Amino acid sequence: MTSPVLELRSVDKSFGPIDVLHDISLKMNEGEVLCLLGDNGAGKSTLIKTLCGVHKPTRGSILMDGAEVTFSTPREAQDKGIATVHQFGGTFPLMSIGRSFFVGVEPTKGWGPFKIYDRKKANKIAVEAVQNFGITRVDDGDRLIGGLSGGERQSLAIARAVHFGARVLILDEPTAALGVKQAAHVLRIVNEAKRRGLAVIFITHQVMHAMAVGDHFAVLIRGAIAADFRKGERTREEITDLMAGGETMADLERQIEGYADA
Ligand SMILES: Nc1ncnc2c1ncn2[C@@H]1O[C@H](COP(=O)(O)OP(=O)(O)O)[C@@H](O)[C@H]1O
Ligand SMILES: [Mg+2]
Repeated sequence: MTSPVLELRSVDKSFGPIDVLHDISLKMNEGEVLCLLGDNGAGKSTLIKTLCGVHKPTRGSILMDGAEVTFSTPREAQDKGIATVHQFGGTFPLMSIGRSFFVGVEPTKGWGPFKIYDRKKANKIAVEAVQNFGITRVDDGDRLIGGLSGGERQSLAIARAVHFGARVLILDEPTAALGVKQAAHVLRIVNEAKRRGLAVIFITHQVMHAMAVGDHFAVLIRGAIAADFRKGERTREEITDLMAGGETMADLERQIEGYADA
């Protein structure tokens, strides 16, 4: 059995007196999607910020390939292959697709030709990488990011992370602001990243989206893991109830009726 790509062991995170994460242990494997579920304020974003070098754990450890690691900056995590894609793709609307593809990777790591920006070459590499991911609508590297749809931007950011060798892909609510068709597109790209062997951490509020891509699920309630299970072990209703903080949908319906009567 190989070691997990990324593992958290008994991680706590506090901000001064505020305890946000309690005793989090999780394993992320190659070619698997871990869905991190939980209500607003449960600690999902704090957990992934702890994984990608924004925060340091207060206690506990992070391991990659079985060896303990510490990230002092997000850049250090990125250099180890941990890529985070934010809700809006994290790119700049006025930049071209080709240009944005190479932002932050130009001078430092053996990209000789890009020390003087080679527009044609950058465009070619970017468009090819994106099309390889099945995003065939992106065919001109000079097009501006601002002209892409939300789903296309996210897909571009994911293709970019994979192209530059990411091993762990972290997606914080990638489908939250998208329509049905766009969300389906992003879910397809997530499955493609998984097929290519990445470990994906997918944060969502939408149970259907989680069930469409997840191999492994962890539910956070008030900063602790309330449930940890694999695909097929829970029904959609059970997952929905867990996400509502352990209250059953039937309880919630009764409460709503109570408000309506009052
Ligand atoms: N830098 C911080 N300082 C103090 N409290 C924080 C900080 N970041 C997050 N929190 C608190 O941690 C809790 C979890 O927040 P967050 O991780 O954003 O939740 P989620 O992403 O699940 O909605 C919230 O109560 C939030 O106020
Ligand atoms: Mg959040």
